[in-house]
Amino acid sequence: MLLQDHSIVITGAASGIGRATALAAAREGARIAVSDVDSAGLAATVEQAEALGAAVYSDTLDVSNAQHVEAYMGAVVERFGRIDGAFNNAGVGGDIARLHQLGEDLWDRVMDVNLKGVWLCMKYQVLHMRHNGDGASIVNMASAAGLVGFPNNSAYSAAKHGVVGLTKSAAGEYARDNIRINAVCPGYIDTPMVATLEKTRPGLVGATLQGVPMRRLGTVEEVAEAVIFLLSPRSSFMTGHAMSIDGGMVVL
Ligand SMILES: NC(=O)c1ccc[n+]([C@@H]2O[C@H](COP(=O)([O-])OP(=O)(O)OC[C@H]3O[C@@H](n4cnc5c(N)ncnc54)[C@H](O)[C@@H]3O)[C@@H](O)[C@H]2O)c1
Repeated sequence: MLLQDHSIVITGAASGIGRATALAAAREGARIAVSDVDSAGLAATVEQAEALGAAVYSDTLDVSNAQHVEAYMGAVVERFGRIDGAFNNAGVGGDIARLHQLGEDLWDRVMDVNLKGVWLCMKYQVLHMRHNGDGASIVNMASAAGLVGFPNNSAYSAAKHGVVGLTKSAAGEYARDNIRINAVCPGYIDTPMVATLEKTRPGLVGATLQGVPMRRLGTVEEVAEAVIFLLSPRSSFMTGHAMSIDGGMVVL
């Protein structure tokens, strides 16, 4: 198994890609620390992971709150002894509107969760990971919208471009500590976030898929597979990479 006895932290694990990755890590033999602001969804993830035989630590966590993030990472180390890997996945979708129509509250919320949240999680993860001796791996959730513009969702796209920059910079800073830091950049994936987008703007997702060479949504399992690879020793010489998982959307 790829993550046998690894302690893996996963944020935004109550739903979608986060839950699928938590379950995939459990199947690969990891001890998992899962968190989310949604306690009911989180409880369902815990139940499914425990049914797979995984050791699970869970608590609610708002990734934009520095004190909570610091306490949470400390609690994981208390419980599991160390953090071998982390998937900083929690995020919000933003509103579909032109930028002059965006409110400051919306801008701040998207930046706080999608960008500051990733920085805060990394900050309190590397503090512990530096003492591992044999290194660690961090995977940050960016997006295809972190590689190219996303007209009518500029706050989201700006935050995800920020995640890519943060990932590359951090990869350089911590390579000497043997902490690898990569990002994943999914295109449209079949999750509640995309269902909400489709409800708000019917037809938008279908129209976008016309520009995707593979002409379909990705699945949460397809993203989870890539994340597990980046968390595992299989990707031992990869750092600072922003990996597209998008059916050819950005590169073709
Ligand atoms: N679905 C897609 O097409 C797609 C594409 C590219 C990137 N992403 C990114 O993938 C990540 C997961 O999204 P998803 O599609 O699985 O959607 P989702 O809505 O199913 O999952 C997002 C999870 O993040 C949690 N969350 C929101 N704010 C939080 C906070 N402040 N602290 C902790 N948890 C919080 C939510 O409660 C939810 O469980 C997000 O960062 C999203 O931007 C999604």
